[in-house]
Amino acid sequence: MSIIQAEHIMLNDPAHTRVNFESQYDHGSAFISGTYVDLDHAAIPMSDLGFMQADACYDVVSVSKGFLFRLDDHLERFETACSKFRLTNPYSKEETTEILTNLIKMAGTKEAYVWWAVTRGDMPEGKGRIDPNAYVNRFYAFVVPYLFIANDQQRTQGIDLMVSKEFIRIPPESVDPTAKNFHWMDLKLALFEASDNKYDWSVLCDADGYLTEAPGSNIFLIKDGVLFTPDSGCLEGITRKTTLDLADELGITARVEKVNVNQLFDADEAFLTSTAGGIMPINSVDQKLLGGEAGPGEITTTLHNLYWTKRWAGWKGTPVDFTTQE
Ligand SMILES: Cc1ncc(COP(=O)(O)O)c(C=O)c1O
Repeated sequence: MSIIQAEHIMLNDPAHTRVNFESQYDHGSAFISGTYVDLDHAAIPMSDLGFMQADACYDVVSVSKGFLFRLDDHLERFETACSKFRLTNPYSKEETTEILTNLIKMAGTKEAYVWWAVTRGDMPEGKGRIDPNAYVNRFYAFVVPYLFIANDQQRTQGIDLMVSKEFIRIPPESVDPTAKNFHWMDLKLALFEASDNKYDWSVLCDADGYLTEAPGSNIFLIKDGVLFTPDSGCLEGITRKTTLDLADELGITARVEKVNVNQLFDADEAFLTSTAGGIMPINSVDQKLLGGEAGPGEITTTLHNLYWTKRWAGWKGTPVDFTTQE
């Protein structure tokens, strides 16, 4: 079995390509301060604490073949993140859905990356700054054509992964990784570390050498037919949850528990999961080929292909009606 060339299909199959949109939305659409604008003219106030202090939470849902994927799960995770960070979304789940759907229609994107955030807003006057109720939280959103962390070629060959030597993931006691947040500096610098060392991507451990997550993605490994993924120190990814559902459907045993980095070196197969790319096979870790041979393993390939096939059949999808324009 070979890896479905999802990117090629998204860009070329008429059921996936962009539908009528006004030229100013070519790069995408955005919603800021209660107004819809094209992405090129979207601007945030510089004094917003989301920008100044990473004081925000966010989420990303994807659209493929015109279906929003697991929208309710993303909305639920976002609401939980808001409450963990003592932020309030000024819009209800229904209103948030309407805004996101309008943005997708404006951009005409049947393959879309749909981002939204709530920030703390501006610093209130005087002593009010220690009172979370003194802030007026702000909502931002944008939609752009779908982004892959690993393109068709990388997913076909598998990612050459580096375990970061310089960085550990921010501990959950500092910033709760289950609330999707802007604290990306450890992830970002670990990516540059990977690039400096000629790898495609990186993964970070915690202080005790247990796997946490990779920039923008969760990690899975397979040993003797059993799937393993970390239970803590990471975002509870919706693609991770989807992978566990697919494993269940295929009768594959999955264990969500502490996973030592040495288990990764010893794995038969491994892959990353993300809204931005789905299931992304790993070829090697620190130059060690997994399973002794190059390319994605059999179980990974099965999961990868099932993920896209089911999505395109509308599984857990909310259809966007592109015939009615905003
Ligand atoms: C830090 C981090 N971990 C994991 C993920 C994967 O989560 P999901 O599958 O919900 O996209 C993301 C997604 O952006 C992320 O930012």
